[in-house]
Amino acid sequence: MKWTDQSLKNPLGEQEGFKLFHREYDDAIQTVNTRLEILVNDFQVRNDYSPIHHIDKRLKTPESIEEKLVRLNCEVSVPSARENIRDIAGLRVICNFIEDVYAVADMLTSQDDIELVSFKDYIKNPKPNGYRSLHLALNVPVYHIDSKVITPVEVQVRTVAMDFWASLERQLRYKQNNEGKISEKTNIELKACAEVSAKLDERMQKIFDEVKK
Ligand code: GTP
Ligand code: MG
Repeated sequence: MKWTDQSLKNPLGEQEGFKLFHREYDDAIQTVNTRLEILVNDFQVRNDYSPIHHIDKRLKTPESIEEKLVRLNCEVSVPSARENIRDIAGLRVICNFIEDVYAVADMLTSQDDIELVSFKDYIKNPKPNGYRSLHLALNVPVYHIDSKVITPVEVQVRTVAMDFWASLERQLRYKQNNEGKISEKTNIELKACAEVSAKLDERMQKIFDEVKK
């Protein structure tokens, strides 16, 4: 590890400084997770229905933070990580229907101490490969013994169908380390699958709307 710590000036030393920094993001994940759970409880009581299928959480490892800083040509230090990486804390909220995706994003970003830094709608405007999701970059307050720390959190919100497509596409593209080797034919086929999947989401939404009536 090449970590240096120039900002925390922690009397416990460099390693402790990193631990405190890293834990802050873990706390931010817990904060957002709890907010979401409370929203689901409220939604469930009012509507007898839960808009969230499940939530995946991940805290970027020190190795992965370091790798990203190197890739971005940035210094490997705590202040640099704070400054340059917005996805150390990540949550993925998997919803049942398309309308739930927007409802959840709306409910979360309406909370007055959560700042929405950026909002990307890859559902209305899918990526060229067919990828669909909402990407929210948030600033979230985390309360510690003697301070409030505003911490960046990345939240992706998508349907079960979008998640199914994204996880298989990711496996094909990144996990098997054959990025670039995927043929044009496969890319076209993957995109076609994304379109079929999106149609399925639309149809399921219509069925749900009918049932609700
Ligand atoms: P922001 O990061 O929200 O600004 O959007 P971006 O367009 O920069 O997306 P980026 O490429 O940084 O991807 C952010 C995360 O979204 C990734 O770590 C993935 O989890 C997910 N993601 C984005 N694009 C794709 C894609 O084409 N396929 C899959 N499977 N996941 C993707
Ligand atoms: Mg990005």
